[in-house]
Amino acid sequence: MKVNKSRKLTNSKKLLKVANKLIPALSQTFSKAPYSYVPNVYPSYLSKGNGSHVFDVDGNEYIDYVMALGPVILGYNYPAVNQAIKKQLNNGISFSIPHYLEVELSEKLNKLIPNAEMIRFSKTGSDAGTGAIRAARAYTGRNNIAYCGTGGVWHDWFTIMTSRNKGIPKTLKKMIKKFEYNDIESLKILFEDWKGDVAAVYMEPILTTMPKKNFLKQVKNITKKHGAVLIFDEVITGFRLANGGGQEFFGVESDIAVFGKAIGNGMPLGAITGNSKFMKVFEDIFYSTTYGGETLSLAAGISVINEFKKKPVIKKCWSLGEYFMKEFNNLSNTLGVKISLEGIPVRSSIVCRDENNEPSLMLKSLFCQECIKRGILFGPGFVLFSFSHSQNDLKKTLEICNQSMKIVKDAIKNNNVKQGIDGDIMKRVMTF
Ligand SMILES: Cc1ncc(COP(=O)(O)O)c(C=O)c1O
Repeated sequence: MKVNKSRKLTNSKKLLKVANKLIPALSQTFSKAPYSYVPNVYPSYLSKGNGSHVFDVDGNEYIDYVMALGPVILGYNYPAVNQAIKKQLNNGISFSIPHYLEVELSEKLNKLIPNAEMIRFSKTGSDAGTGAIRAARAYTGRNNIAYCGTGGVWHDWFTIMTSRNKGIPKTLKKMIKKFEYNDIESLKILFEDWKGDVAAVYMEPILTTMPKKNFLKQVKNITKKHGAVLIFDEVITGFRLANGGGQEFFGVESDIAVFGKAIGNGMPLGAITGNSKFMKVFEDIFYSTTYGGETLSLAAGISVINEFKKKPVIKKCWSLGEYFMKEFNNLSNTLGVKISLEGIPVRSSIVCRDENNEPSLMLKSLFCQECIKRGILFGPGFVLFSFSHSQNDLKKTLEICNQSMKIVKDAIKNNNVKQGIDGDIMKRVMTF
């Protein structure tokens, strides 16, 4: 697979010049900004997508493994979802009194998701997470949050914990602390420190490794014992691990679960689901937005669930993920280069390690650069599949990964990794 020498980024670069004057931080989504990828080598703007492929504003085509950071579970321009949106578009978008699709989608989620006795909608995963936190605080009359996850929520209660916490009242900092996945003792310590004052345990059901020693069950028991609310953040795991998300996959129900991303295949939709006992709190708190019941997204959500019921969406993503992870890691082992896919098959990350075995963004930048030049779009975060990815896509991608690994290996040997990067090194601009 040759480097696409005719690949130009002229239009991308022109647009970026304009954006530099008009758009602070250059992107509406943190992880999509140029510095998250390899600046000058990746396109800065895309124009369309179809299935598993996307096209940039200069007409270059890529097989995409970022999938809009997770939402696009079925594929871009997916016919059934398009049709549902178009049909609803002909009947209007937002209304003065709730639209019947709110009830229709609630019924579907109620049947699909283990704890979903009651449901509220949101436009984003952050809204859903914050709604759940407010409900937990209202239910318990407490403030503190024990947190375990990969981040992503932009609202004050979470972002205060990160390196980007300017503009947030410092007083919130003492109300959230992290505990470690698969380390029940680290959660016990928080319950000890905050004796009787934990409102919620907010966590993703899985990060990078499978739960060990009944970890999720243990978390559930200890949370219940202390009278706190267990919230699963299923913004990534929902509609990806299993039809009913992490709760179904691991057989452990949370009190409240929040969804976003894949629930709408790219439309702005999220959901808070939970047991009535907790969800009834929404009758007393203020959780409201003009666009909460916007119907194009509700129609998209219904069509996603219908597709999940008709087709083996999750099964296919798992089997693509398993195949890809195994073959990718075989390639790097054979070459003797420390580039691996780590995590679980439906949510893995490319990790390039240096001679000290530490993850290196410089090595990853070179690897990703060689992939994007040959038509493969990997991002700084998770490698994700959709129902539209094909075996052919994966075979082509593996060939290109093999070539790119060889280039990294040679660059390490010749001590010229940095010189090999045509743009800048990817940056991690937020930590917590
Ligand atoms: C685990 C997790 N929760 C919540 C969010 C926030 O979702 P959104 O970006 O839709 O607000 C993200 C976003 O990346 C996420 O990864």
